Amino acid sequence: MPVIAIIGAQWGDEGKGKIVDLLAEKANIVARFGGGSNAGHTVVNHLGTFKLHLIPSGVFNEQATCVLGNGLAVDLGVFFEELDMLKKSGINGGRLYISEKAHVIMPYHYILDGLEEEAKGSKAIGTTRRGIGPMYVDKAARLGIRVGDLLDKDVLRSRLEPVFKYKNDIITKVFGAKPLSFDEIYSQYCDYGQRLRPYVRDINTMILEALDRGELVMLEGAQGALLDIDHGTYPFVTSSSPMIGGACTGLGLSPMRVNQVLGVFKAYTTRVGAGPMPTELLDEMGEKIREEGHEYGTTTGRPRRCGWFDAVVSRYSAELNGFNAAALTRLDILDKFDSLKICTSYKVGDVTYSRPPSNLTILEQCEPVYIEMPGWNRDITNIKRYEDLPVEARAYVEKLGELLGCPMNLVSVGAARDQTIEAKPIL
Ligand code: GDP
Ligand code: IMO
Ligand code: MG
Repeated sequence: MPVIAIIGAQWGDEGKGKIVDLLAEKANIVARFGGGSNAGHTVVNHLGTFKLHLIPSGVFNEQATCVLGNGLAVDLGVFFEELDMLKKSGINGGRLYISEKAHVIMPYHYILDGLEEEAKGSKAIGTTRRGIGPMYVDKAARLGIRVGDLLDKDVLRSRLEPVFKYKNDIITKVFGAKPLSFDEIYSQYCDYGQRLRPYVRDINTMILEALDRGELVMLEGAQGALLDIDHGTYPFVTSSSPMIGGACTGLGLSPMRVNQVLGVFKAYTTRVGAGPMPTELLDEMGEKIREEGHEYGTTTGRPRRCGWFDAVVSRYSAELNGFNAAALTRLDILDKFDSLKICTSYKVGDVTYSRPPSNLTILEQCEPVYIEMPGWNRDITNIKRYEDLPVEARAYVEKLGELLGCPMNLVSVGAARDQTIEAKPIL
């Protein structure tokens, strides 16, 4: 089983970090393939509780080499901060490498992310303001600065100078904000380049060689399928492809090499930022889910919007990614509910939708159609075997598996690595 991809199946924050940390016990390489520090992956294991934005969640497993692929949006301030944080906890990121082709978030990306969001007013996307969108714009416009460019001061100057003038013009003339200093930023990124040198590698080759040796390569998704730039709820999406296709382009890996695509689903639905969310509950029930689940963003601290499990968007995500395995997380958050709802289709007037309409105006009008299932009203956080789960909890998991059309291999009943039930074998 040489390649397994762990993909966020909803709107992000499904618990990918936890699942990667658990499965990385067997991996030789753990690779992030896209996004940047807009991600916030929480890992709880015998070493402590960690919130990672950039460094792969496999970093706690000594045998795993962690890599950042060419698809990443790399914020070097966050990268070095995270390395320091891990070192202080006695975890040394010794076998951590970064692709020379990965793009770098520059200070003007941060500034533009904020200015563009402000300018949108009530139409703002609610980005994490980590510079992600503006960086991917530059990548597509062929104005990006890549990790490899930082290693040579002359190359960096020749790449940065023309872009810098253009960005300062936008910042000052379009938005009326203060210009940035070229000398300061050039010098800071030259320094970053020198610090980064030992980490820079040809990641594509590294992965291909690992596969030749028959090693296990794990691909760590960030964000979620419904935030995909093409297939998500556009324009309320991120600027990369968090799906399996993005994993292949973000690492230079053929789809033919991927053996298992594991979707991570939360047992209900959450979303941070703006955009349609048909099962959002704006009532006491939504509040109860948020409080039971402490649903506040890992990266921004914003309250997450909460609602019942939406099997319409989730099945769409399973179909588009071709999930042949799944993990269901946070089942324990539903421990104190008398009954649970699952949305199985949408209605707009007399029209029924079994897949999410791509027209945003229609999606915004969709009313969820629910089935109801009994809750279990019991603490399940210490359960280790699938057959020991309450019958109502098993029925809920099995119903979701049936609606999604993929096996539910893992059921997570707490944040810690060992609070995971293997219902069906994975690797
Ligand atoms: P990610 O971005 O997909 O890695 O998810 P986040 O880390 O942003 O959010 C998931 C949150 O749920 C984190 O606080 C995890 O520690 C926590 N978590 C993951 N699985 C479970 C679970 O099964 N039960 C509970 N109670 N918490 C979980
Ligand atoms: P993880 O990996 C949840 C959301 C933002 C916003 C939209 C665009 O932790 O699951 P961006 O900063 O990417 O331009 O913001 O995408 N978003 C996430 N939501 N989890 C994430 O990552 C997210 N990354 C981006 O809230 O709605
Ligand atoms: Mg997160």
